[in-house]
Amino acid sequence: MKTNCMLLLLAALFLTVRATAEDTSSQTPAGEIKETPEQRDARMAWWREARFGMFVHWGLYSGLAGTWEGKAVGTSGGMEWIQNYVKADTDTYAKAAFPKFQPKPDFARQWARVAKDAGCRYVVFTSKHHEGFGLLASKVGDYNAGAKLGRDLVKEIVDACRAEGLRVGFYHSVIDWHHDQYAYRLSQQLPHPLSGKPYPNGERDHAKYVEYLHAQVRELVSNYGPVDILWWDYSSQDFQGQEAWRAFDLMQMVRDKQPAIIMNNRLFRNREAGWASMGTEGYIPQLDPKYGDFITPEQHIPATGMPGVDWETCMTMNTTWGFSEHDRAWKSNETLIRNLVDIASKGGNYLLNIGPKGDGSVPDESVQAMHAVGQWMKTNGDSIYGTTASPFKSLDWGRCTRKKLPDGGTRLFLHVFDWPKDGKLVVPGLAAAPERAAILGHNIALESVPANGSLAISVPADAPDKIDTVIVLDVKDLPAEK
Ligand code: GLC
Repeated sequence: MKTNCMLLLLAALFLTVRATAEDTSSQTPAGEIKETPEQRDARMAWWREARFGMFVHWGLYSGLAGTWEGKAVGTSGGMEWIQNYVKADTDTYAKAAFPKFQPKPDFARQWARVAKDAGCRYVVFTSKHHEGFGLLASKVGDYNAGAKLGRDLVKEIVDACRAEGLRVGFYHSVIDWHHDQYAYRLSQQLPHPLSGKPYPNGERDHAKYVEYLHAQVRELVSNYGPVDILWWDYSSQDFQGQEAWRAFDLMQMVRDKQPAIIMNNRLFRNREAGWASMGTEGYIPQLDPKYGDFITPEQHIPATGMPGVDWETCMTMNTTWGFSEHDRAWKSNETLIRNLVDIASKGGNYLLNIGPKGDGSVPDESVQAMHAVGQWMKTNGDSIYGTTASPFKSLDWGRCTRKKLPDGGTRLFLHVFDWPKDGKLVVPGLAAAPERAAILGHNIALESVPANGSLAISVPADAPDKIDTVIVLDVKDLPAEK
């Protein structure tokens, strides 16, 4: 009896101590970061070097493919929002969508190969989009691939990416159109299919949803080995951060499990987090690290880059993120390649999206486009990976990226979009002859003559690559400011 009492007492003491410890950790001053700038640079190094990643939007909406009750919901715009466009409650939506979401075995292998073939260094895919369906096998809730399909699609995708040597990240929506405690009436700005309507199931306790969100994210960062990126989506000015998602605690939990992880800024919507407004073009070039590691311009390339800030432009290949059978507005290979170059020349990363179908297969148009980018990268990848922003304000004929050379000089990569008709490429601001001038990947050395503070490079009559021929120039001094 005595021993029993002692044991009970000890157990009670242990539980109290544990509970207190947990409480304190979730109450740590909001978002304080202990990392030094050097540690941060080391953590960000692979991402800055990579420059090019593949985004994947895939979920129940993929099988619906932009069609609801036999009719096209639209021919453009993000069809991963279809549930919201047709204002379907989650049961109606699930009933229509599940029969059309039938992942083939081994679909993930194709994704990973497409990414690899394109020259991407990382893949970010939707572990859960706004519709709320998780691709993981989760112990919390039953709206996930484990519960509904008896599969862990997150594991399948992660394994396939790792097998191709790719880094991997999760896009995770904090907005949730399924969960019965997600209190959508707390925000006027975040979308929800039932917006403006009363809760169908009586009062909601948003804290319960947040608990669920944290529990599922905990699974994501605990069960799949190293996770390289967490790509949150998204917040509004009227609902964000600690208040909406217990965001600082969420980020801290993720960092505790994955100290090297890189996260975006979308758990927040305020100026310190790089957001000036609700529009996806409303980013500003500043980011306090407590709000995330990088800024996320969407479908936009910042005109002059964002010096001193890490940023990544995400873009669709047509106009939708999730697959739509009605969207045929595919961007040309020229546009995709030049966007990649434009972004690199401004010091950013390019996250290019594919939207696989309901069976997981990648649309042929995307396979071909990614292959075309990859072909260009095979010859010219050196002018993208590990480069930094152009030292030129602007160049009439194209773009420039650069790398430091071990001898202290600089390697400039001149990306010529408009090939000169007179056989002379004029580079402003370079007063001295370069150490070396050549066409990248073609082993063609070029003559050049400095004149009047510019350098005139003699080039062949025809461009070896009509989309972008890259000329390598090794120089001692950077171009003079114009
Ligand atoms: C958005 C959209 C979305 C898409 C995305 C990509 O804010 O809501 O459907 O996933 O961001 O950047």
